[in-house]
Amino acid sequence: MSVLILGATSRVARELAHRYAEAGLAVAVAARDVDEARRITADLAIRREVPAQAYAFDATDFDSHAPLLDAVEDALGPIEVAVVAFGDMGDQEAAQDDFAAARKVIDVNYTGAASICEALAGRMQPRGRGAIIGISSVAGDRGRQSNYFYGSAKGAFTLYLGGLRNRLHGHGVTVLTVRLGFVDTRMTYGMQTGIPIADPAAISRQIVDAVERGADDIYLPRFWRGIMGVIRVIPEKVFKRLSL
Ligand SMILES: NC(=O)c1ccc[n+]([C@@H]2O[C@H](COP(=O)([O-])OP(=O)(O)OC[C@H]3O[C@@H](n4cnc5c(N)ncnc54)[C@H](OP(=O)(O)O)[C@@H]3O)[C@@H](O)[C@H]2O)c1
Repeated sequence: MSVLILGATSRVARELAHRYAEAGLAVAVAARDVDEARRITADLAIRREVPAQAYAFDATDFDSHAPLLDAVEDALGPIEVAVVAFGDMGDQEAAQDDFAAARKVIDVNYTGAASICEALAGRMQPRGRGAIIGISSVAGDRGRQSNYFYGSAKGAFTLYLGGLRNRLHGHGVTVLTVRLGFVDTRMTYGMQTGIPIADPAAISRQIVDAVERGADDIYLPRFWRGIMGVIRVIPEKVFKRLSL
């Protein structure tokens, strides 16, 4: 049995790879940067003493998704847990100037994520087991001027995961949606925020716990559920005037 980590160079993803390796699962580390993926597998193999293999993965290379899963399962056995961790916030201003940049954000965060999840579901459903963890974002809960391409793609991914969970319920496959707030990674590097930024290792432990207890849709850190509850109920007439 194996765990597949997609977008493995993310700090959250690396921590999750270690959590599942600690539990004894073989780890498939998939990333755009294969050299870095190899360094991650070497670390996992030495520190956790589990089989680990590196794979090239680009979320926007849709045709490569099914062959990647075949290669992982041939080498490491059936994928028990898949972590869809990749994401690209892009540059909102660049995306407004050039739709190609906007499309890339949509393709990575939504189309690519849905493509790999469909390929995973197609394998897990007939086996009647497996877990898919989709890392989405609180940015997907409400459209804001500062990041509406990223936010809308993550919002679509959140909705997609809800539908997939509905489809796979009763087939032994669980789907966990993780709506992340601020976590200390490359994505938040240098960001000024009055809201605390979470530690990726702590987040990884909470994600593993959530899968174990069969959770469906969680906010991490948990206080983001309250923040987004307030943000969602602000009337649009007021919200559109805010520079968020
Ligand atoms: N950090 C936060 O506060 C926060 C908040 C909400 C949601 N999230 C979500 O959490 C997840 C992890 O992000 P992070 O915070 O750890 O940021 P990160 O360090 O920027 O990680 C993003 C990951 O996505 C990968 N990626 C980007 N484009 C890709 C593509 N076309 N194909 C394959 N992989 C691609 C990156 O690979 P490279 O190394 O090759 O660039 C990297 O591994 C993402 O889904 C992100 O949207 C993060």
